[in-house]
Amino acid sequence: MYTPTAAGAVAPKKITVPELRNRKAAQGQARIAMITAYDFTMARLVEEGGAEMVLVGDSLGMVVQGQANTLPVTMDDMVYHCRAVARGLARAHLVGDLPFLSYQASPEKALESAGRLMKEGFCESVKLEGGAEYAPHVKLLVRAGIPVVGHIGLTPQSVHALGGFKMQGRGDEAGKRLLADALALEEAGAFCIVLEAVPPDVAAAITEALTIPTVGIGAGVHCDGQVLVCTDLLGMGRGHSPKFVKHFANVADVAVAAFQSYVDEVRSGAFPAAEHAFKANRPAAPTSEVQGVSAPDSSKRYVA
Ligand code: KIV
Repeated sequence: MYTPTAAGAVAPKKITVPELRNRKAAQGQARIAMITAYDFTMARLVEEGGAEMVLVGDSLGMVVQGQANTLPVTMDDMVYHCRAVARGLARAHLVGDLPFLSYQASPEKALESAGRLMKEGFCESVKLEGGAEYAPHVKLLVRAGIPVVGHIGLTPQSVHALGGFKMQGRGDEAGKRLLADALALEEAGAFCIVLEAVPPDVAAAITEALTIPTVGIGAGVHCDGQVLVCTDLLGMGRGHSPKFVKHFANVADVAVAAFQSYVDEVRSGAFPAAEHAFKANRPAAPTSEVQGVSAPDSSKRYVA
């Protein structure tokens, strides 16, 4: 797992796109675990937890910014959060979301935006929402050396067109359209496809038809991997969660309890205790010498 660096230190081996492209569960490969992250601290924890793919999703519009949907997220927002997450990852593959209207207008616009996520955000691939109509965009990015993750089913950037955050691909025709979209994205060069909120049998059929892995969210167990939003997974939210979310912890309650303890101890004076204070960097002076001494130079007075 570890390879030496030029300086002789060991660095974890990066998970590569060719490795991920071959992760098909039906061929006996372990399923891919993808988790979102939006900052350095969470990225480090997610990687320590073993996730192979970390997604800086435009879900940050809702989770970090408190917006009603992902539409207001800008390229500058994405670059900012991708840079922070990239600093926290040594091994996991970093995917950055192309936000609303950063790619839809043309393949060239997509290339310009994806290029920013790679050059300025240090992403290793980009994700875009949409089916066969975006095959030309995917082709151009792939030709430029930018690995692409597709995203079909419930595509949150189309929330208004879809009439809400609703399950997609219900019924034979809709299921067939999703399959055609998935095949078109694969043919265009995508190395992985996220399936969001689609019936498990549709996800299973798509997963079987593709040679690239599917990563599901609300798409059942037959996908080649799963993705969850980190704050959902940790149980950090206070509102309603979609049916497909599982809280693997209840961090919201743990955090609130910690904040309450802090507030109580600050009020009572129990915090900070002696062990939380710096030591004086000088011999203790007899009381008589201290009397009348004005405030010392704080840089000399304290040790780290
Ligand atoms: O933006 C996001 O976090 C996503 C995942 C839910 C797949 O697109």
